[in-house]
Amino acid sequence: MAILVTGGAGYIGSHICVELLRIGEDVIVLDNFSNAKPEVIGRIKQIAGRDFPARAADVRHEAAVRQVFADYDVEAVIHLAGLKAVGESQVLPLRYYQHNVAGALVLCAAMQEAGCKTLVFSSSATVYGAEGPVPFREDHPLSAVNPYGRTKIMIEQILRDLHASDSAWRIASLRYFNPIGAHESGLIGEDPLGTPNNLLPCIAQVAAGRRPRLTVYGGDYDTADGAAVRDYVHVADLAQGHVSALTYLRGYTGAEAFNLGTGRGYSVLELVSAFAAVSGRPIPYVIAPRRAGDIAVCYADAAKAEKILGWRTRRSLRQMCADAWRFTRTMLETAK
Ligand SMILES: NC(=O)c1ccc[n+]([C@@H]2O[C@H](COP(=O)([O-])OP(=O)(O)OC[C@H]3O[C@@H](n4cnc5c(N)ncnc54)[C@H](O)[C@@H]3O)[C@@H](O)[C@H]2O)c1
Repeated sequence: MAILVTGGAGYIGSHICVELLRIGEDVIVLDNFSNAKPEVIGRIKQIAGRDFPARAADVRHEAAVRQVFADYDVEAVIHLAGLKAVGESQVLPLRYYQHNVAGALVLCAAMQEAGCKTLVFSSSATVYGAEGPVPFREDHPLSAVNPYGRTKIMIEQILRDLHASDSAWRIASLRYFNPIGAHESGLIGEDPLGTPNNLLPCIAQVAAGRRPRLTVYGGDYDTADGAAVRDYVHVADLAQGHVSALTYLRGYTGAEAFNLGTGRGYSVLELVSAFAAVSGRPIPYVIAPRRAGDIAVCYADAAKAEKILGWRTRRSLRQMCADAWRFTRTMLETAK
């Protein structure tokens, strides 16, 4: 039996595939490659030293999704396929509800039909909205401040309803904090098509000389250096969190949410200086006004994942930067 990874060619999905293959699981990827290069699949195979099927399909496409369940014996699904740019979600909300909410509905219906009822879902710390207190615990009220975050709240609710209607479902919604870093091989990492939305690819592009400077949004927050504080988590630790969740679900029925974060915050400027130190490159930046909806401090209470899933992060901020920089250099070499 295999694990279906939707969005498996993307940043986080590719690291999850590597981790699953490494521990001997069989994997199937479904991805429409709207935000990933097809060659990522080859790189996953190269790292893992194993082959697996990858299907170019859209998770909103009922017939295509059903076909995957007809063609393979799928034990569980890790659902990452979706859109994730907060700003874009405010401009194009329907696109976000379509890809994220409608996509999840199509997937869950196909799973139900096929009798596959184990699901690990990529949720996000954005479900905690703009109000503290930090650290955020899983029972904190949910209130997103943008359509992207609302898609995650809606999907989590749909999954709870699904379990309430049929107690055979085994569901874990994993609320990621700020995934950064890359695989230690330098072969896979965060390589978005088009302009990056996340901070670390922007920092890496400045370090590599592909952008003149970084824009840091907000320098007057009530934090030690005035910059926003976030919980950066190494993507390889995050990938292992999915394996822990899957192992847990094999002995559990229910619908639970877990924070995946380190439980410690670093400011954006601390991240910039860690990256400058690791890369040996200057990272000029300008401070711009705060962005609407951004909060000063966001980090996880990671106790539930440690207690119930037996998962905690192991990699340092320095390692996150070193691995991301190795990946950036690999990409620059490949582009030559
Ligand atoms: N990266 C983060 O900071 C972060 C934080 C919290 C939650 N998440 C969530 O984790 C998941 C993965 O994020 P990521 O950073 O790897 O993003 P990503 O864009 O790198 O990966 C998403 C993958 O899904 C694919 N995809 C998008 N829409 C699709 C569709 N309709 N059908 C099939 N494939 C589709 C893309 O081609 C891409 O390969 C997303 O659901 C995102 O919301 C990410």
